[in-house]
Amino acid sequence: MTDPKELRAQGATPLVEMEDISISFGGIKAVDGVSVDLHPGEVVGLLGHNGAGKSTLIKVLSGAYQMDAGEIRINGNKVEITNPRDARSHNIETIYQTLALADNLDAASNLFLGRELVTPMGLVNDAAMEAECRKIMGRLNPNFRKFNVPVSALSGGQRQSVAIARAVYFNAKILIMDEPTAALGPHETQMVAELIQQLKAAGIGIFLIDHDVHAVMELCDRASVMKNGQLVGTVDIDDVTDDDLLSMIILGKKPEKAAA
Ligand SMILES: Nc1ncnc2c1ncn2[C@@H]1O[C@H](COP(=O)(O)OP(=O)(O)OP(=O)(O)O)[C@@H](O)[C@H]1O
Ligand SMILES: [Mg+2]
Repeated sequence: MTDPKELRAQGATPLVEMEDISISFGGIKAVDGVSVDLHPGEVVGLLGHNGAGKSTLIKVLSGAYQMDAGEIRINGNKVEITNPRDARSHNIETIYQTLALADNLDAASNLFLGRELVTPMGLVNDAAMEAECRKIMGRLNPNFRKFNVPVSALSGGQRQSVAIARAVYFNAKILIMDEPTAALGPHETQMVAELIQQLKAAGIGIFLIDHDVHAVMELCDRASVMKNGQLVGTVDIDDVTDDDLLSMIILGKKPEKAAA
């Protein structure tokens, strides 16, 4: 897998390009002419205050909202994403902060929720689903043992790994994570960080929304900062400090030295 920084330096066609995206709610521009892009194996952080437009921007990509103006390209080809099904057909998977797991079902049932494996007779094939679940969890989170309990009995980090397994199992190429560690303790946050490294190594591109500048510095290759629906700028993490990112969020200006 080529390093995403190298891909950018070579001018490779990005995996995702969102260009000049705008969307309004009742006359208020929630997202106003924002452009961001993403390469395979890259994590791009989206930062900004509450209400900056981060979730709205990625909901355009996940098909939850329809943009008023702009263009989305995947591998250089213009695509129409008008609903979540369109997004999935382009291998875009979303993990929301509220994980949308079915609490009363076990990990395997959640992995295949809405996409169940069936026997040739058309019956739900629990044994096959559990076997597949054990395979993918063995890869992503080898310490995971809680296969036969409802996911309500799992820790936040374990639940997060089930959600990530679902995205990986269904062949996500583009993953959207909206504050994946917001409700997690330090140990579990570390576990999600390790999962993100694995997804990167597999060539998956990730848009990561996070409020924590420090986490973005650790996990991301680049960061795009938004303020009042507009893009303040996109910077390479190697070129900035925590304070640079903070000042972009607060002042809405790019730091001088990263201004190129
Ligand atoms: N469905 C909606 N209807 C009306 N207004 C909306 C809707 N979704 C978002 N907005 C508005 O759009 C703006 C951007 O909201 P958005 O949720 O994208 O912000 P955010 O950057 O994700 O914030 P946070 O960090 O709090 O999650 C806000 O002013 C919000 O009130
Ligand atoms: Mg949000």
